[in-house]
Amino acid sequence: MRSTLAFRRDVLGLVEGMQRRYGDLARWRVGTIQFYLVAHPEWVRDILVTRHRLFTKSRALQRARVLLGEGLLTSEGDFHLRQRRLAQPAFHRERVAALAGEIAAISARTAEGWRAGETVDAGREMNRMTLAIAGRTLFGAAVEDEADEIGRALTDALGLFTRLSNPLAPLLDRLPVPATRRFHRARERLDATILRMVDERRRSGEDRPDLLGLLLAARDEEGDGGGMTDAQLRDETLTIFLAGHETTANALAWSWHLLARNPEAEARFHAEIDGVLGGRLPGAGDAAALPYTRGVFAEAMRLFPPAYLIGREPREDFALGGFRVRRRSVVLVSPWLTHRDPRFWDAPLEFRPGRWTPEAEAALPRFAYFPFGGGPRKCIGEGFAWMEGILALATLGQRWRLRPAAGATPRPDPLITLRAGGLRMLLEPR
Ligand code: HEM
Repeated sequence: MRSTLAFRRDVLGLVEGMQRRYGDLARWRVGTIQFYLVAHPEWVRDILVTRHRLFTKSRALQRARVLLGEGLLTSEGDFHLRQRRLAQPAFHRERVAALAGEIAAISARTAEGWRAGETVDAGREMNRMTLAIAGRTLFGAAVEDEADEIGRALTDALGLFTRLSNPLAPLLDRLPVPATRRFHRARERLDATILRMVDERRRSGEDRPDLLGLLLAARDEEGDGGGMTDAQLRDETLTIFLAGHETTANALAWSWHLLARNPEAEARFHAEIDGVLGGRLPGAGDAAALPYTRGVFAEAMRLFPPAYLIGREPREDFALGGFRVRRRSVVLVSPWLTHRDPRFWDAPLEFRPGRWTPEAEAALPRFAYFPFGGGPRKCIGEGFAWMEGILALATLGQRWRLRPAAGATPRPDPLITLRAGGLRMLLEPR
C-alpha cells in the first residue's frame, strides 16, 4: 500500500493528469466515493456562485469541525450566514488598514532577526511571521504571550489534520493513541486560553481595535440583534487564526522562491519598493503605490495557490456540461489547474508580475483566477491577505534578498494548503 504522504505528493500530478485525459470535467471513483474535477472557469462560477445553494462543504472540511467547531470555514446554512454578517465589519477596508502598522512592525522584527549568510527554511520563516501577525492582529499587543501559546497549541493540533484523508480517521480520533491524546491536550489548551481571554475582555469592558474586540462588539442588526456566545467567539477566533496564517505564509514563501529565480523581476521589485519607501516602513496607504509588488504576490498565488483544491458536496443530483453529477459525491474545483491553463493565460508557467495591469485584470474571464474562492463562501480575509502580502514583501525586501541554497529541492507540498516544501534559502543583505 502506498503511503498517504506519497499519495499527497502526487495529488497535483493526479489532478493535472485527470484534466489532460478528460478535459474540463474529469470523473473517478475511490471506493464508494465518486469524485468530479471541474476545470473550466464558467463551471467553477456555476458551482461557487450561481448554484451554490446546491452544495455543502466537502467531507474533508466537515471533519475539521473536530478542531474548529462551527466557525466560518466549517458552518453551513443560516448559522453560517449570521456568523458571516457578524464577522464582516471586522474585515472592512478601514479596519484592515488600521492593522497595517502591526503587520509592518512584525515583518520588520523578522527582518531584524535574520543574519547574513544564514540558510533558512523560507516556508517555516514565513509561517512563524504570519502566525505572529495573526496573533497580534486578532488579540492585540497586550496579550502576546497568550497569542504565542495559542499559536503553539494550534500547530500541535494541526498534526491531526495530516490524518484528514485517512479513511480510519474517525476511528483514530476515538482511540487513545499518542497523536490523538496530543491533539486533545492541544485543543484543551487552545480552548482554555481563548476562553480566558474572551472572559477577561468581557469583564474589563475594554474596547480594543483588534479583531477580537470587533467580534466581541458585533451585533446582528439585520437579524436577532444579538452577539456571539463565548463558544462562537472561540470557534471564530480559532478559525481566523488558522485560515489566516498558513495560507498567507505559503504565498509569501513562494513569492521569495519565484523572485530568486527571476532576477529581472526581482530587480523591478527592488526598484519599486526602494523608490516608494526609501527605507521607511510601509503603511496601509502605500499598498496602492506598489503595483509591481502586488503583482509578485498575485503571481505567487496564481502559480502556487495556497487553496489548490476547493471541495463541495452536492445535496442533490445536478447537470453540468451534459453530465449528471451525483449527490453526495465530491466536486472539486482547482485554482492550481485553472490558473495554469493556456486557454486563459499567456505563457502560464512564467512568473510575470507585470501581467497584473488593471486592463489585463479586467479582460480576464471571471474565475480564471480565484485564489480566494468565490460566492458566499469567498475568503473573508482577502483584503487582509493582500495588505499583509504586499507590506511583508516590501518590508523584508528592502533589507534582504533570498537566494536558493545549494542543493535545495523546492517542491509544492499539497497538504490542507499548498505548502512550500524544501525551500531552503540563503539570506543576503541588500
Ligand atoms: C493568501 C492568503 C489566503 C488565501 C489564498 C485564502 C483562501 C481562502 C479560500 C479559497 C477560501 C474559501 C474556501 C471554500 O470556499 O471552501 C477561504 C475562506 C476563508 N478564509 Fe481565507 N485565504 C487567505 C487568507 C485569509 C486571511 C488572512 C483570513 C483572516 C484573517 C482568512 C479567513 C478565512 C475565513 C474565515 C474563511 C471562511 C469564509 C466563509 O466560509 O464564510 N483567510 N480562504
